[in-house]
Amino acid sequence: MNQYQKVNLDRAWKFKTGDNLKYSAPDFNDSDWEEINVNQTWNKQGYKKYEGFAWYRIHVVIPASLKKNPSPNDSLIFNLGKIDDFNQFFLNGQLVGENLNNTTADKKVTDDFKNLKESYWDVPRRYSLSIDNPLIKWDKENVIAVRVFDWGVAGGIYSGGLNITTPKFSDYLKIIPAKDGAENIRKVSLQNISKSYEIKGDFTIEVLNNISDRKSYERKFHVKMNPGESKSFSFRFEKPHQSTTIKYMFDFDGENYSSTLSEGVKYILTPPEKEAPQINGALIYGERPGKPLLYKIAASGKRPMKFFAEGLPKGLALDPEKGIISGRVERKGNYNVLLKAENDSGFDSKTLEIVIGDKLLLTPPMGWNSWNCWGLSVSQQKVYDAAKSFVESGLANHGWTYINVDDGWSIFGKSKERKRKPNGEIRTNEKFPDMKKLGKDIHALGLKFGIYSSPGPLTCGKYTASYKHEFQDAKTFAKWGIDYLKYDLCTYRKLMKDVHSVKELVPPYKLMHKALTNNLNRDIAYSICEYGLGKVWEWGEKVGGQLWRTTGDIWDDWDRMYEIGFGNVEAAEFSGPGHWNDPDMLIVGWVGWGPNLHETRLTPDEQYTHVSLWALRSAPLLLGNDLTKLDEFTLNLITNDEVIAIDQDKLGHEATPVIKKDSIEVWMKNLSDGNKAVGIFNVSAENRNFTLPLADLGFKDSVLIRDVWREKNIGKFERNYKTGIASHGVQLIKIFTGK
Ligand code: GAL
Repeated sequence: MNQYQKVNLDRAWKFKTGDNLKYSAPDFNDSDWEEINVNQTWNKQGYKKYEGFAWYRIHVVIPASLKKNPSPNDSLIFNLGKIDDFNQFFLNGQLVGENLNNTTADKKVTDDFKNLKESYWDVPRRYSLSIDNPLIKWDKENVIAVRVFDWGVAGGIYSGGLNITTPKFSDYLKIIPAKDGAENIRKVSLQNISKSYEIKGDFTIEVLNNISDRKSYERKFHVKMNPGESKSFSFRFEKPHQSTTIKYMFDFDGENYSSTLSEGVKYILTPPEKEAPQINGALIYGERPGKPLLYKIAASGKRPMKFFAEGLPKGLALDPEKGIISGRVERKGNYNVLLKAENDSGFDSKTLEIVIGDKLLLTPPMGWNSWNCWGLSVSQQKVYDAAKSFVESGLANHGWTYINVDDGWSIFGKSKERKRKPNGEIRTNEKFPDMKKLGKDIHALGLKFGIYSSPGPLTCGKYTASYKHEFQDAKTFAKWGIDYLKYDLCTYRKLMKDVHSVKELVPPYKLMHKALTNNLNRDIAYSICEYGLGKVWEWGEKVGGQLWRTTGDIWDDWDRMYEIGFGNVEAAEFSGPGHWNDPDMLIVGWVGWGPNLHETRLTPDEQYTHVSLWALRSAPLLLGNDLTKLDEFTLNLITNDEVIAIDQDKLGHEATPVIKKDSIEVWMKNLSDGNKAVGIFNVSAENRNFTLPLADLGFKDSVLIRDVWREKNIGKFERNYKTGIASHGVQLIKIFTGK
């Protein structure tokens, strides 16, 4: 067999900021350009705050010996790595590709490639050219030019792994599991996308239980596919109640490589909701004296349901049909109110502690924020639809309360429209015709209403923000009925000398806090968002924050969720009732940051890990998914009342890791009832067995262990507790200390 060759492009490229189409020309003299590496963004290589256009160029000899690579060798593949955000690719002066695709030969070079709503920043760029394309100069110097446009934060070619190569059969085989099959009947299709090669090999489908290691399905087919041909296969297996993976493997005849794809199967752990009432959610609630209070009793169970509240302090009243308590309490104090819910299947009661004092958000906020699904395409209708879904899907019966608009509601900075009214009041854009009505509509459902702004002149999405209008905006927010403000650093960064400087970070946040507490007719919870700069957890409470982001943005990818979820342990001691660390929003369900949504790329196991970890860390639980598209799995994942109760526990302790060994992390949280919530996480790529050393963790006697997701006691254990955990999965348990 011939030697398989590649041309490595992980070398220094030439780099220039700005834009000029002449830079694509092969004879353009780039000798005075700076050099840059392609394994990190330009921001980390001396262009810290640069955004906009920039060009990368490299001169490279393409050896004719590449043509002798083993079959398939009908084309050249240019792997150009991940590019943040948009790009065009030129070979010897000719446009060959744009963003994710090859362009046609007659495509004109315009700026349209950058005018898209969704960024492609985390997708590897891969272009191909037929081996006989005259554009390729064999054994001679070729010039590759990449025109990049970055719309903010970080930019450029950054992943490394750039090369020129020939394809493998695996490049021409697509394995496509059908998305819409029933839970236990699956379809998968194979597609040969090559124009000239037949594909032959063994295709194996396996369904594997990750806990017992048992295969519940296995079949092998010998497959032969002509160029362009597709084949589909359907198979059936029992609906799983444990972590389960489907593995698809294609072994190409005569080759020493294969194609594989794994797919996590959704499995449901939370038992179905009972018909009898069950009161859920936070059982402590804080408001300041004289400010409007709104508390919807979260109770699951069959409707109609009737509600009672005994011992309400003066100024509050209950709507017995809707279960909404509202009014104002003038006197400071702790008031114990006995809540009752009744329907024709039964009855439940619990005590709610209403604390009229200085503190808000005595438990982490639970709600929804528009960013992770709608991005800048958010609208009043979409926000109201989310609020309605909270009630209609039953989410509100489990404590989900806040409906928060993120970026994109004010006037776009570059628009010709007036950003503010003549009196300076901030205006909404056409997608939000009536913010006050939206507030009223949300409150009428018993839910709370949040908004977003920045201390800078513009938000991160470049919409009008609060710089020099802080007091006026706070008043306007109060007028609109806002209960929660997320205040995002964004363009204020440009007004700072050093974004890490606490001295510079504190004033803008303090100023808005002053505005929010300056004789407004309502309480507005204050969510600080500056990505953890200057260790915000050390001073966030002092500047009036009820919560603060501890990290940059999350997205639906295991590595990112892992980094954020298991990181920043040092912040834990600063979290507590009324002041929470915020590791960013949840990424379950349908997400997408723009008009086009996709199902989260976290596997079911990763989603159980995500929600368990956020609950253990007393994190704000802010959904970011399209609530009109909730499937059974997602709904089940976010309505487990025992998991939610861990998050909403009134002690407000944030879990920390007590064991980190062989890729198992054990996180433990103290609960107000004296018991412990413990998450055993397997962060490795393999399924694992693990023995929890109870005695080493301080449990001297035998303890009762409960499986929190299944809401079921497992049994009594002494010294050790043995369990199996799927790769990237979790077992969330409650340990009853018996004290
Ligand atoms: C980011 C912030 C995101 C989102 C976005 C809006 O800075 O971290 O959560 O609010 O801005 O543009």
